[in-house]
Amino acid sequence: MYVSDLALTDFRSYQHVVLSLEPGITAFVGQNGQGKTNLVEAIAYLATFSSHRVAGDAALVRAGAERAFVQAKVVRGDRPVLLELEIVAGRANRARLNRSPLTRTRDLLGHLRTVLFAPEDLALVKGDPDGRRRFLDDLLTLLGPRMAGVRSDYERVVKQRNALLKTAASARRAGSDGDIRTLDVWDAKAAAIGAELVAARVRLLRMLRPHVQTAYEQVSGGQGTAEVAYRVRVGSGDAEEVEEDELVDAAAVETRLLEAMRRLRSREIERGVSLVGPHRDDVDLTLGGLPAKGYASHGESWSFALALRLASYEVLRTEHDLDVDGEPVLILDDVFAELDARRRERLAALVAPAQQVLITAAVAEDVPAALTGARLDVVNGTVGRGA
Ligand SMILES: Nc1ncnc2c1ncn2[C@@H]1O[C@H](COP(=O)(O)OP(=O)(O)O)[C@@H](O)[C@H]1O
Ligand SMILES: [Mg+2]
Repeated sequence: MYVSDLALTDFRSYQHVVLSLEPGITAFVGQNGQGKTNLVEAIAYLATFSSHRVAGDAALVRAGAERAFVQAKVVRGDRPVLLELEIVAGRANRARLNRSPLTRTRDLLGHLRTVLFAPEDLALVKGDPDGRRRFLDDLLTLLGPRMAGVRSDYERVVKQRNALLKTAASARRAGSDGDIRTLDVWDAKAAAIGAELVAARVRLLRMLRPHVQTAYEQVSGGQGTAEVAYRVRVGSGDAEEVEEDELVDAAAVETRLLEAMRRLRSREIERGVSLVGPHRDDVDLTLGGLPAKGYASHGESWSFALALRLASYEVLRTEHDLDVDGEPVLILDDVFAELDARRRERLAALVAPAQQVLITAAVAEDVPAALTGARLDVVNGTVGRGA
């Protein structure tokens, strides 16, 4: 698939901008702060409803405006689809598909797929578990938009369960156990939905694994074996050894979660937070058997981060349930300036054949020769055909 047209209204720095794109390679070139990332961020947001730069929506709406509009025409097979999203800070977004309003905004997901590489990706390797969890969950949502529902259901249940744990603490002090019985109901809900999410993540990790290994070899030039493994964490970060075969079985995970909740109940009430479930888990990344975090060099960490993104691209390209043309649009936001010459060339060679590659760079020289294509100059919020 590829994006053929993009229109932004009151998105980030853009009051209004319209541009057409071709399949193949396009580089957005311009000095810092000119609005390059804003363009590709809008495209990725349409595909994922999330931004690689901010958690909330507020920063996406142009300062002083009330709402932002992102419209894109996506060509998939021979059928163009028109995607439209209205972003209202702090309120639910609204979506239209081929000009028809959607009752559920998340039904817009799945029509456009993107894989975005950005300097922030280094945190996948060096940063906290929440980035790695988001990596898996975002990819799950791209593979099957139904997972967006499972994720938000789970978040809601954990929030309510945490609130209940807090009131249970005060009830316990007052000598009542009323809330404790309600807690059983929420344990059951959290375990059922949580288990579905864990099993989906581990199945995804199995799909990613061979691609991560190959991509790591390709990017690093064949040094070391990159491994990914799901890490169940219980309590305050203690890792628990669980066979992967057990983790792909949602029923087995549900039983395990319920059992852990029973075991941890006193501590959970004491702390007022849910101490077990997919919101606590992590992905172990190892290089030649050693944890990447803490052991890997800067260059190796970059290779690993790139391998995770390249593997996502392969999984989306090959294991999709779309009827036609699931190949995602590749977005490389300012990554080449971060990489040494060899990694830069190897990454360029790997992404060059993709159906559509959108690149941002401060100077044209940062874009490797293998990625020569169309060039658009971005100057102070105007986008024009470059030299
Ligand atoms: N919500 C917003 N309203 C107005 N301007 C914004 C908003 N968010 C970001 N900007 C502006 O957009 C510019 C950054 O654009 P960006 O696309 O990140 O630049 P770059 O070309 O370096 O990638 C900055 O000048 C920033 O102030
Ligand atoms: Mg930028």
